[in-house]
Amino acid sequence: MTPSFPLPSGRLALCPSVLSADFTCLKGSLARVSGNSDWMHVDVMDGRFVPNISFGPVIVPAVLRAGGLPADSHLMVENPAMFIAPFAKAGASLITIHAEARGAAACLRQIKALGLKAGMSLRPKTPLSRALPYLRQLDLLLIMTVEPGFGGQAFMADMLPKVRAARAAIVKAGRPVWLQVDGGINADTAAAAVAAGADALVIGSALFSARNPAAMLKGLRKI
Ligand code: DX5
Ligand code: ZN
Repeated sequence: MTPSFPLPSGRLALCPSVLSADFTCLKGSLARVSGNSDWMHVDVMDGRFVPNISFGPVIVPAVLRAGGLPADSHLMVENPAMFIAPFAKAGASLITIHAEARGAAACLRQIKALGLKAGMSLRPKTPLSRALPYLRQLDLLLIMTVEPGFGGQAFMADMLPKVRAARAAIVKAGRPVWLQVDGGINADTAAAAVAAGADALVIGSALFSARNPAAMLKGLRKI
């Protein structure tokens, strides 16, 4: 049984990005990070919304079994409506769609109707104002700190004011909404993101290339 998806509680959530895991040994690779993490982050790319292709719902049951943690699915796809039901069926607890994707409002309703938690993500160039009308429906707001599409890119520090403004909007809304950041997170950039108000960190290449991922996660936990 997969544990239920946590609610924001003031505790920092650490979310390993499966995209950077070792696919020759997914179980071992996720086992090395799951003990000190909160949920797994599954990056889904369709080669249209972003210039890269990753994986579909087929990976979710494997991720759940290997990590023993719930998973969010970050849909970087042009037409998320097509993939919501398959990812729900595969076992994702939370589905994040992009505000820039087709039919974002209807997609949020679709996710909620399936009994899942719903997230909305913003590309770096998309202003926070695009997500604010949906804040009442959201369980998670994702601020991208790289252009979506690839792991291993550098953190865009110029996104920090957007993270601060997102935190202020969540406080004002008075609802339990995770504020997740994704892209270029490492020990240094994590501190800046958390100081700006993030309470959920996606960590890909820095974590899976660390000599001691468990120690890295323990360090991040202390931020
Ligand atoms: C990028 C993905 C990220 C990526 C993060 O499009 O959404 O989740 O895997 O990887 P790092 O931490 O390497 O930037
Ligand atoms: Zn992601």
